[in-house]
Amino acid sequence: MGEALVELIGVEHSYRTKGGAVPALGPLDLRVEPGEFVVVVGPSGSGKSTFLRVVSGFEHPSGGAVRLLGRTPVPGRDVGVVFQQPRLFPWQTVGGNIGTALRWAGVARADRPQRTVELLDQVGLGSLGPRRTWEISGGQQQRVAIARALAAQPRLLLMDEPFAALDAMTRERLQEDVRSLTDDATRGVVFVTHSVDEAVFLASRIVVLTDRPGRIALDLPVPLPRTGVSADELRGSAEYAALRGEVATAVRSVAA
Ligand SMILES: Nc1ncnc2c1ncn2[C@@H]1O[C@H](COP(=O)(O)OP(=O)(O)O)[C@@H](O)[C@H]1O
Ligand SMILES: [Mg+2]
Repeated sequence: MGEALVELIGVEHSYRTKGGAVPALGPLDLRVEPGEFVVVVGPSGSGKSTFLRVVSGFEHPSGGAVRLLGRTPVPGRDVGVVFQQPRLFPWQTVGGNIGTALRWAGVARADRPQRTVELLDQVGLGSLGPRRTWEISGGQQQRVAIARALAAQPRLLLMDEPFAALDAMTRERLQEDVRSLTDDATRGVVFVTHSVDEAVFLASRIVVLTDRPGRIALDLPVPLPRTGVSADELRGSAEYAALRGEVATAVRSVAA
């Protein structure tokens, strides 16, 4: 067995509040391998965002250990993060936002223009570099946020309900693009959502969290093909429907 991208060992987290400790997550164990697209599904308040913050190193867990490529995660390094809101810098152009991310990633100034073009191409925004962030649609803004997260070429991409604020058609298009991020088998994605449909479409593996504090209720491989099949075929297949039913039942039972 090679080195895990992420390893959580007995991880739990409580928030300290005036009213006492609020248990939000765990204890849980989880290992994510390179090439996996893990979607964590759970009801609202089950600890999904807490889970991602702990994995990214932004939140130090109250208990247990997190290993990212065998080390303690350094916030802002090693992983790219995409949130529900794009959080772009409004005083910079689309290209400027990517350029800043490249600078933070340590890319030499002379290489940044070319890399900016490549990243915008990768997310289907080839010509939008000079535009202002408020001149583009919500879906395009979220694509910029994805390009920015990819700037440092992270081995691991963390996504926190990144499409929840988008309309259904835009959401499906972005899902189709994001699904192929793990075609490069050295990379991994951990994506959290409360949408069962989104989970079944995207995941190579689905982890269902219990209600707060989130523990692992179900850990399920997704045997759907990842290449050579259209999104419509996939969403219309009997295998997709069966899996959707199984995961929906699990989510309903933990939320009850
Ligand atoms: N900063 C905080 N202080 C106190 N409680 C918090 C804080 N952040 C989250 N929580 C609580 O922890 C639980 C899990 O939150 P969160 O990880 O945001 O869930 P999710 O992303 O699944 O909706 C919730 O019950 C929430 O109220
Ligand atoms: Mg959340």
